[in-house]
Amino acid sequence: MATAEQIKSLVRSHTEGDDQRFHSVIMQIAAHAAKAGKSNLAHELRDLVDDAKRERERISIRPVPLARPKGELAGLATASYPKLRLADMVLNSNLEDTLNKVLTEYRQSDRLRSYGLSPRRKLLLVGPPGCGKTMTASALAGELSLPLLSVQLHAVITKYMGETAAKLHLLFDAMLETRGVYFFDEFDAIGGHRKSVNDVGEMRRVLNSFLMFLERDDSESIIVAATNLVEMLDPALFRRFDEVIKYSPPDRPARENLIKNKLCIFDIKRLGWKKILDTSDGLSHADITRACDDAAKEMILSDKKTIPTSILFDAIQRQNKLLVTRSV
Ligand SMILES: Nc1ncnc2c1ncn2[C@@H]1O[C@H](COP(=O)(O)OP(=O)(O)O)[C@@H](O)[C@H]1O
Ligand SMILES: [Mg+2]
Repeated sequence: MATAEQIKSLVRSHTEGDDQRFHSVIMQIAAHAAKAGKSNLAHELRDLVDDAKRERERISIRPVPLARPKGELAGLATASYPKLRLADMVLNSNLEDTLNKVLTEYRQSDRLRSYGLSPRRKLLLVGPPGCGKTMTASALAGELSLPLLSVQLHAVITKYMGETAAKLHLLFDAMLETRGVYFFDEFDAIGGHRKSVNDVGEMRRVLNSFLMFLERDDSESIIVAATNLVEMLDPALFRRFDEVIKYSPPDRPARENLIKNKLCIFDIKRLGWKKILDTSDGLSHADITRACDDAAKEMILSDKKTIPTSILFDAIQRQNKLLVTRSV
């Protein structure tokens, strides 16, 4: 059963609206219950936490339109208020350290500024798809209770350079007025190498103008640009960001953590880890998440709590096949 400390912690986290802590205490209680042989109670508690998390995610991804009178801006970026935390992600220790440093510096930016220093807040995230770049932008916003403003690059970049520059101007002005995490996904659309063969001079001017805005910006917003195509990026860009953060597919321990997190409501004690981890090598976090969701659905619909190795293995194999199809 719950200890006195756990009950106090539950009450405190409820009062402070700290969902994260509330859920983690319930998971501790569930773990105790499981150890004490009360596996039904453990499962029920985990189910409850899972439902609550899903509900939280459902609410948090609902886009919130930007306030008027910034009418034109509303077409350039969508705002949302993610509740995601870094702890919801599986990160290698380097990545975790870097992101924690960003959070600490941001939270203490007044102190840094009083010494003439500024927090790192212009970040370039680089790495293959499905390894957590978009998720990082959400988690930074969630951790700092800032809105996430996802920039619609296709709406920003138009045929006319003057128009594009004016739109970028609008966005960088918004960063001064509305503190938030400004997320430029698929940044290669503007960050592509300036010498690339099909460069007709136009993208180069867009890029130069972005770089100029980026350099001048001294707002209190966080600017996050993400791209899957590291080789496309102009080296001049790397210097303009405070931090270039590299993402990669999960290694063996990370895959194990990810699977354990995703399937925490099921009994996976007898899972054949070697087979599962061997076969999932090379898959991204997103692929593994999909495989776990597949397996979870099968279990839920057949009313089973114990995941057999073969079900998860098959789900992972399906992702492997998709990966091959995608790369052909
Ligand atoms: N580091 C991670 N930890 C946990 N889940 C992850 C991680 N990276 C990706 N995922 C899962 O994969 C999905 C897609 O990831 P995303 O952040 O959109 O990838 P990217 O932007 O790098 O292409 C996420 O919504 C999440 O379910
Ligand atoms: Mg992404």
